[in-house]
Amino acid sequence: MRESNVSDQDHKIQNASLSQLKVDLGNHQYPIVIGPGAMQSVDWSHYLVSEQVCVVTNDEIASHYLEQLKSVIGVEPLVVMIEEGEQHKSLTSADQLWSALLEAGFRRNATLIALGGGVIGDLTGFVAATYQRGVPFIQVPTTLLSQVDSSVGGKTAVNHPLGKNMIGAFHQPQLVVADLSTFKTLPKEEFSAGMAEVIKYGLIQDAAFFKHLQNQSEALLEEFKGLQQGAEEAPLMTSIIQRCCELKAQVVQADETEQGKRAILNLGHTFGHAIEAHVGYQGWRHGEAVSVGIRMALDLSWRLGQVPAHVVSDTNVLLDQFHLPVRPPSGMSADHFIEHMKRDKKMNSTQMRLVLLAQLGQAEISDQVPESKLQECLTHFCVTNTH
Ligand code: NAD
Ligand code: GLY
Repeated sequence: MRESNVSDQDHKIQNASLSQLKVDLGNHQYPIVIGPGAMQSVDWSHYLVSEQVCVVTNDEIASHYLEQLKSVIGVEPLVVMIEEGEQHKSLTSADQLWSALLEAGFRRNATLIALGGGVIGDLTGFVAATYQRGVPFIQVPTTLLSQVDSSVGGKTAVNHPLGKNMIGAFHQPQLVVADLSTFKTLPKEEFSAGMAEVIKYGLIQDAAFFKHLQNQSEALLEEFKGLQQGAEEAPLMTSIIQRCCELKAQVVQADETEQGKRAILNLGHTFGHAIEAHVGYQGWRHGEAVSVGIRMALDLSWRLGQVPAHVVSDTNVLLDQFHLPVRPPSGMSADHFIEHMKRDKKMNSTQMRLVLLAQLGQAEISDQVPESKLQECLTHFCVTNTH
């Protein structure tokens, strides 16, 4: 096992192909265990503080991985099924889960386990943050996107019809188990959606990592195919997920509750969230909306003279390699973008706050973007919007 920054108290893991790193927030630390077979390798008894354990998942994911999870955690859990889809990351689903916990008499030493992608993870985390003022939870992310991003860092939320992730809390997990064997059933489009967030880390924090992704994109796609066929090792993918988690952990450790720097993790997200709200959280994957948002944020950075054209084109080529969308949904206008973007959490009183690229590998947060430049960017993407 490859380790980075792991304390002596951390449990031992008996699998050489796994990686482990630690998020250290001073008053709370937790490990992220990464690799094929991670679920089996964790000492679950170390993390489950009572017999009261609730696994939150959906039908599809449960059909593949629930029995496997049950067999390793060592207790018979309450299982709550949430309907599939971003539109079910909602207060209605949270209420379903709160009710199930209350009916089962769950106490404050219960543990919730999120088995699924970012939708299940964000919802479970939000319910864990609020049930009896907070209970422990564990993330078992099963999509690339949730392994590199949503399971790490403690942002939990549900959507509101008026805005994405508008109701939420910061609540850190006790443990993250990123088991790459779950990619066996992950659709290729979901893998691609996750790549948008992977590419984001290179753009905002690590130019060398961005170049590594450019060089390794074919090999990565091959490794993904291997995992879909049941491969038991995926060293390139494991190291890439580990690097993303390290980069995210650095930012979260510096600014856990997004008073400043953490907002860089949202490169492209203000545009992307506008797309998701515009389509009513249906028909577009989060990572797909983020990919268009990244293209727009880079275009805007170029219009402002901050990055050269080749950084924009290199990024577009890399996103294209994963077949990620190029334009906003058909019929979405510049005015639609402005309407949704004004509701974004990153608004600073009246001024729109956007994450831009200062240079490859370095992001910056700006609330000084001239409206004319933003309009030029929106018009460019919306006028040529034909699909
Ligand atoms: P998702 O959770 O909707 O999962 C995508 C689809 O894949 C779903 O249909 C799911 O049932 C299915 N699936 C998941 N794992 C599978 C597997 N192994 N095999 C087969 N099917 C599988 O989408 P996502 O991309 O994982 O997450 C997107 C969500 O994450 C959004 O709500 C977004 O806002 C949130 N997010 C949160 C943070 C954060 O910091 N909390 C960061 C990024 C994104
Ligand atoms: N995905 C953005 C964040 O965790 O801050």
